[in-house]
Amino acid sequence: MTSSDALYHIGFGRGDLGPQPPVLAFLSGDPGRARYIAERYLTGVKKLSENRGLNSYLGLLPNGRPALSATSGMGAPSLSIVVNELVQVGMRAIIRIGTCGSIQSHVEPGSIVITSAALCRQGAANDIAPIEYPAAADPFLTVALAEAAHTLGVEHHVGITASVDTFYEGQERTGSANPYLLRALRGITEEYRQLNVLNYEMESGTLLKMGSVYGFAAGCVCGVIAQRTEGEAVLLEAKATAVENAIRVAVEAAMRFA
Ligand code: URA
Repeated sequence: MTSSDALYHIGFGRGDLGPQPPVLAFLSGDPGRARYIAERYLTGVKKLSENRGLNSYLGLLPNGRPALSATSGMGAPSLSIVVNELVQVGMRAIIRIGTCGSIQSHVEPGSIVITSAALCRQGAANDIAPIEYPAAADPFLTVALAEAAHTLGVEHHVGITASVDTFYEGQERTGSANPYLLRALRGITEEYRQLNVLNYEMESGTLLKMGSVYGFAAGCVCGVIAQRTEGEAVLLEAKATAVENAIRVAVEAAMRFA
């Protein structure tokens, strides 16, 4: 049973968050990952909602502080709705835990990328701030993520992420239902590689702009599951390690972040 102040999409409200409400949320694209984080890394877990695949759970971090594990869904439009509502229910820090494709040979599958800023090619973000507005992660949260990775011995890279709206065309994949790429997208991966962009993913740009505009701390850590300097495929054999690394680092960073 949810409280009467439940927000329309996330399916819960402030009234569901108890006497010690959390101010930090982990945000995964995949509802299964949101549930896994809650079950594996939080204690005293309460299911808040499983509405529209936007699963949300409340629990305690290993240091006893409360946290949410929520789902953004895939892509920036869905994320923008969830983040808006999470801020309405009191979140002051949001850490995206995602997956990504590397566009640098030294950023290997299984490792993680901590986004310091995003090259934001996302339509949803343009409804929130001008296209030129920086998509910068909260610097203190980013340091907490990098220190957590260092402490845990997780291979990590901190830098610029290309955050785009599509998995196929926008990330220059031609082995899909649409082999035709717009001229503007042909060669874009190599161009980004030359610009020292580390990886492709699909949500951080909008999240980071929202953090600066709304006034909450936004961060992003992604496990590397594709090596785009070599091919287009998702490397399923790297996924479990990459995702677990990203989650461990996010949880450790959350405990360090005041
Ligand atoms: N997520 C992406 O957006 N791209 C990839 O290549 C892998 C995961």
